[in-house]
Amino acid sequence: MPLLESIFSKIAMNGEVPRYTSDYAALERLFRTKTDVWNFEKDGYETARFDRIVDLARRVPHDSILEVGCAEGHLTRRLAPLAGKMAAIDVSATAVERARRAVPDADIRQARLEDARWDRKFDLVVCSETIYYLKDIPAAIRKLNSLGRYVLVTYTLYEKNRLDPIFSRIPAILNTSFNYLKFFDADRIVNWRGIRIVLWWSGAPWR
Ligand SMILES: C[S@@+](CC[C@H](N)C(=O)[O-])C[C@H]1O[C@@H](n2cnc3c(N)ncnc32)[C@H](O)[C@@H]1O
Repeated sequence: MPLLESIFSKIAMNGEVPRYTSDYAALERLFRTKTDVWNFEKDGYETARFDRIVDLARRVPHDSILEVGCAEGHLTRRLAPLAGKMAAIDVSATAVERARRAVPDADIRQARLEDARWDRKFDLVVCSETIYYLKDIPAAIRKLNSLGRYVLVTYTLYEKNRLDPIFSRIPAILNTSFNYLKFFDADRIVNWRGIRIVLWWSGAPWR
């Protein structure tokens, strides 16, 4: 079964295998090489994923939102209308510069989650498709908890075997998935992808 799953996911991804790296200099080089590196604006999966996240964020009581790992601000731009105060961080200076242009009213800073400090706690911290770049996931979860009252994390289902055991230890308000299947979508024969979505109260005890 894992073999079949792996073959099918390779066909679905058109041979493109995701590579996640904690090499932040490599991420910066990636952003310098091209814009919209993950095809966020044209890929139906990505826009459907954003819609799902925004829909969930809307249901959490919030005035202020912090997005961790905002890239060029594609999701930030969609979250901003929901928030009285929208802030975001990313490790890449180039991405931050573009995100500031995309969402001029938001407070967007170049920072690594590991070092992020704020003079206030946000109502909601959204860390979408970023957690798997971090080497120490439990430390990243503790850091996210320190930054907000509610935390919403999403990660690709390609990372589920590694990350589910960690995130299932959190007493979450919501632990669900978003699945997407479309034929002949975004230059793929089959666009079959998905994310795990975990939402929790940052005061909840976890082991
Ligand atoms: C795949 S993008 C996610 C963009 C957006 N959040 C979304 O859901 O589409 C991941 C981003 O996380 C950033 N990133 C990676 N490690 C980070 C860290 N330790 N602190 C802050 N940002 C980080 C990368 O530079 C990249 O822009």
